[in-house]
Amino acid sequence: MLNYTIISGSIRQNRNSHRVSLHLMERINSEPNSKAQLIDLAEANLPVMTDLWDKHPQHTEAYTKLADTLKNSDAFIWVSPEYNGSYTAALKNFIDHFPKQAFYRKPVGVVSVSTGALGGIRGAMNMQELALAVQAYALPQMLLVPQVTAKFDSAGAVTDETFSKQLNLFVTELTWLSDALKNKVDSNQ
Ligand SMILES: Cc1cc2nc3c(=O)[nH]c(=O)nc-3n(C[C@H](O)[C@H](O)[C@H](O)COP(=O)(O)O)c2cc1C
Repeated sequence: MLNYTIISGSIRQNRNSHRVSLHLMERINSEPNSKAQLIDLAEANLPVMTDLWDKHPQHTEAYTKLADTLKNSDAFIWVSPEYNGSYTAALKNFIDHFPKQAFYRKPVGVVSVSTGALGGIRGAMNMQELALAVQAYALPQMLLVPQVTAKFDSAGAVTDETFSKQLNLFVTELTWLSDALKNKVDSNQ
């Protein structure tokens, strides 16, 4: 069983990108041998990071639970809107709260979301760099979601079937990498 954790990176009121996180959670859960859970950064509501995990004076129960969830994950999907050419401050703040070990040698698929036409490629590329910084393996195939409100409804259902091809490719490639890393398969298949 592959345990995926989707990190939903927008904490903005009336956010649009969360619908993509909801969709991916349902989608991954429908795959054989895959289980997905979601960390909603709006719910996690972590303060601005003031010290490293190891030095933090007191870990609250909620903070420890989040750390355990990361530790027990085999693979991640980071979903963020593009804000001013990058991912959200909330996502960076969240990642900075935890030891790199939580992500070490694990795959991260990045998903950038925008209401604009381009889908936030700069946000996606910056997320891939962040994944490398925490010693994770960034999946080369990023998922870019332009004009998000025309592609997903607020519950996460796809409303534009032409987008299914990109979604399928992303999930297929992430599943392959996650499976390969978990089982250390050396194969070209
Ligand atoms: C602070 C801010 C900066 C933004 N910068 C970009 C940007 O660089 N590129 C882009 O395509 N859209 C940008 N947008 C528009 C977002 O794509 C749009 O607001 C989207 O709904 C944001 O996701 P969210 O609703 O989940 O917060 C920006 C929006 C905000 C609030």
